[in-house]
Amino acid sequence: MAMAGSAVGLGNIWRFPYMVGEHGGAAFVIVYIACCLLVSLPIFFSESIIGKTTRTDTFGALEFLAPKAKNVGYVAILASFIILSFYSVVGGWSFNYLIRSLGGSFNGLGMEQAREVFAGVGSSPVESVSCMLVFLGLTAMIVVAGVDKGIGRFSKISIPVLFVMVVLIAWVSLRLPGAGKGVEYLVKPDFSKLDAPAIAAALGQSFFSLSLGVGSILTYSSYMKEEDNVLQAGAWTALFDTLFAIIAGFAIMPAVFAAGIEPAAGPSLVFETLPVIFSRMGVVLPIIFFLAILIAALSSSISMLEVVVAWLVDQKGMRRSYAVLAVFAAAAALGSACAVVPRVFSSCDFFSSNVLMMIGALAFALIVGWKMPREEVLRHVRFEFVYSLIRYVAPIMIVAIAVTNLL
Ligand code: PFF
Repeated sequence: MAMAGSAVGLGNIWRFPYMVGEHGGAAFVIVYIACCLLVSLPIFFSESIIGKTTRTDTFGALEFLAPKAKNVGYVAILASFIILSFYSVVGGWSFNYLIRSLGGSFNGLGMEQAREVFAGVGSSPVESVSCMLVFLGLTAMIVVAGVDKGIGRFSKISIPVLFVMVVLIAWVSLRLPGAGKGVEYLVKPDFSKLDAPAIAAALGQSFFSLSLGVGSILTYSSYMKEEDNVLQAGAWTALFDTLFAIIAGFAIMPAVFAAGIEPAAGPSLVFETLPVIFSRMGVVLPIIFFLAILIAALSSSISMLEVVVAWLVDQKGMRRSYAVLAVFAAAAALGSACAVVPRVFSSCDFFSSNVLMMIGALAFALIVGWKMPREEVLRHVRFEFVYSLIRYVAPIMIVAIAVTNLL
């Protein structure tokens, strides 16, 4: 559940549905699934094997398995920290919007007003920083309670609830008059749109969506029990994450089309278009929607914070509570900069997803594919072809997308 929580996040809600529509509907979904199976899942297994065999934090694990590459551990930890900082800004907006929808302030909202509200939230430093701090504070409270009592308990309760909420929104959305166009946007296959950038986008999205390359999966796997199965954990997480993304698509796009609005991606979809649409359907739906986003974001942010906390606890001997406090303070500083200066936000996003995550993912695949004893790896992945995917396909594809995205 915790791994599924890490995977299911803002990436599923605000990027996936738009990407599907833009890059050829069902054709893109097929490519996305192929990317998951051939590249992202093997990387997931690699991270998981590293975590499960070393039973320590990201840095310690790499130092143990590949001392020469140990500094890549810092790269992954830094990536987690940076993503946590800018992700918390968006988490803060979700919190802000949840409070607003609880106060009924979206009633009768028009598109123009929605833009003004969002511009106001984004440009008011006090509002965006304080909401970011609330979100980061919630993240810290869950993580400080421990792996079982905090992260585990939160995930076990919130992920099923989240799933029910999104299915409910999809059900409402699909019954709207004119919803058919949104369904068509998502499912109609258009293979002519599958160019190299579309494939690179699918791969990049599946990386981000499965939280790869930053040590989250590694750290969570270090808490696995001996009898837990790496293959099963990965397969379930990827299946749930993809299913959730598709259902989120059916929750969002039919409503967007039914309202006669052009689909968008990113902040403007979640914080401008959707409040307008969902507020037309009563006071309860916006509340459910923003609560769902908040939970999805929290279940991901706790996994980023845990990466850094595990490192401070295991390597620096810090007490868990102090470690959480230290990372909270540092992420609050960078998060404030992200909240106030849009350029800082977008640079953090770009640098972590296109550079740091890729370096981490490449290192994890190479260590498991080329450094660990073959029998040891096969004991976890069982199938020879999965081992070959880790050894050859994953590293080559990571380099290929990194180059495509950076060019
Ligand atoms: N998987 C999350 C999403 O799709 O929103 C993002 C994420 C979570 C990235 C955790 C990295 C991470 F460590």
